Amino acid sequence: RLEKIWIGFGLAMLLVFLLLTGVAAFAFGVNPANSHSSHEHGEHQVTKVVPTQLKTTAPFDMPGLRQIGEGEYEAVVIALAFGYNPDPIEVPRGAKVHFTVTSQDVVHGFEIPGTNVNFMAVPGEVTRMTHTFSEAGDYLVLCNEYCGTGHEAMKMTIKVV
Ligand code: CUA
Repeated sequence: RLEKIWIGFGLAMLLVFLLLTGVAAFAFGVNPANSHSSHEHGEHQVTKVVPTQLKTTAPFDMPGLRQIGEGEYEAVVIALAFGYNPDPIEVPRGAKVHFTVTSQDVVHGFEIPGTNVNFMAVPGEVTRMTHTFSEAGDYLVLCNEYCGTGHEAMKMTIKVV
């Protein structure tokens, strides 16, 4: 009888373990930094950067928008106190934009209200996320992490024309 209890306990622990592993794998899988295939845009697949060396570290040595395919763009953005570099950017309606983002100083947010784009810009790390802008208009990128003086003023405009 005692053995049955222990076997049951063992099975329960195994189940818990499997569940946790599954959850961890899922969480890892949907992390924006890992959702981008490493085979795309090969030379820019850095995941770590030194915040003080952005000026000499590709792709952040050239923040901005560049076309990488038909209706497809990469937006390399540096978040920093008071704003984002570059600002604004302009893309045609229907553009698929791959954001590659880091922070130059402290942790900032990168949220585009009304879309599923919402992640943190972390110094030392590169976060990637893709969004297709199917409707024209001005989209604001807002910082939703309190980052000190200038937090409220921190925004960037994406013009979809
Ligand atoms: Cu940057 Cu708040």
